[in-house]
Amino acid sequence: MNKKIAITKTVDFIKNRFSGESSGHDWWHVYRVWRNAVYIEKFEKADLFVIELASLLHDLDDWKFSDKQPNHDPQQARRWLEQLEVDKTTIVHVCQIISDISFKGAGVTSKMNSIEGKIVQDADRLDTIGAIGIGRAFAYGGAIGRIMYDPTIKPTRHHSFEQYQLNQSHTINHFYEKLLLLKDLMNTATAKKLPKEGTK
Ligand code: NI
Repeated sequence: MNKKIAITKTVDFIKNRFSGESSGHDWWHVYRVWRNAVYIEKFEKADLFVIELASLLHDLDDWKFSDKQPNHDPQQARRWLEQLEVDKTTIVHVCQIISDISFKGAGVTSKMNSIEGKIVQDADRLDTIGAIGIGRAFAYGGAIGRIMYDPTIKPTRHHSFEQYQLNQSHTINHFYEKLLLLKDLMNTATAKKLPKEGTK
């Protein structure tokens, strides 16, 4: 399978699947993650094909949108890549990145083993901070029925993913528990600079 065609087909597939999404995980979120990842890759030597596929498919199997646990096998992404006849090594790598990518709580470290995974995770995190990140936090809160603010409920630091997942907090706390921490959690030197400069 020609790499360019694989990317074009994946773009069409994801655009179609996510276009009506209203929780801040719509096609244009995926698009920004994809473009951020391609931008970061220019400064960090890595496998661009893996990066593009992983960033385009990163939210397809997210635990937030299914009853699955984090780190589960991203079946839909795997099936899609097999259908495209992408080589086995690339499929394994892309699926590993997807299952490792989501944020699992303020006190829980999520490790990315490859430079490609680090880049995609940074690109996703960059879309969670700044003006876009603020907008997405409220859109997501509304979509899952989370209250906006309750001053009697203080932010907490989660020590396990289960704790993070069960937390019935409000959107303002989400800034203290996740969004404001992300700029210090960037993996790559390029992404560390971008929160100050703004994304491209
Ligand atoms: Ni995402």
